[in-house]
Amino acid sequence: MNISKILKLKKKLIRQYYSFKYPLIPYSPEKFVKPEKVLTYKSGWSGLELIIEDILEMFDIERESCIEFGVEFGFSSVVFSNYFEQVKGIDTFFGDTHTDHKGDHYKETKESLREYPNIELIKSNYQDWIKLDKSNYDFAHVDIVHNYKETFECGLWAVRHSKCCIFHDTESFPEVRKAVFDIAKVTGKKAYNYPKNFGLGIIV
Ligand SMILES: C[S@@+](CC[C@H](N)C(=O)[O-])C[C@H]1O[C@@H](n2cnc3c(N)ncnc32)[C@H](O)[C@@H]1O
Repeated sequence: MNISKILKLKKKLIRQYYSFKYPLIPYSPEKFVKPEKVLTYKSGWSGLELIIEDILEMFDIERESCIEFGVEFGFSSVVFSNYFEQVKGIDTFFGDTHTDHKGDHYKETKESLREYPNIELIKSNYQDWIKLDKSNYDFAHVDIVHNYKETFECGLWAVRHSKCCIFHDTESFPEVRKAVFDIAKVTGKKAYNYPKNFGLGIIV
């Protein structure tokens, strides 16, 4: 067996161990709906746009406000702009250890999202933002650097300030899955998992 096969197998075993140790309720959408506005580039988020309406209906979520941590080039922000009157997107716009793109991309993202007036971009790290924001939101999304500490800290704030919070990459980053499991435990909420498109955790 060559090195890349061994590494793949190791990743698979770690994933299986985390799924066993941190069980989440399987989420099966009843329907798949493509929203009207979707950016055309391929994002790690691509595919998940099809289940957002299902999630909002399933958990009876109102459609006024949404906050997102981790915008990058705006794929998920534009998806949310179909459903919410106001979408706030918080990002350093600098990338992180897990993103392919590194370096300031604030202006580029702002320019390409110009035609979506209900998206407000805020260049900040989540650490500074959550110290100041006392608002509550209908919906939240966490898709920042995929370490346990950051996902737990940002996610705990997001769950406490929203009715429903989703987390990307529960399958590709076991630490995100563990953070989702722990946040649900600490807050007494339920945690679901949609296993496709790198995994989407849902806490309600
Ligand atoms: C995986 S990308 C987000 C992808 C995006 N949701 C999409 O639909 O394509 C992660 C983003 O999180 C941002 N990020 C990482 N750590 C952060 C932090 N501490 N505070 C705010 N943003 C952060 C990065 O700059 C990067 O743009």
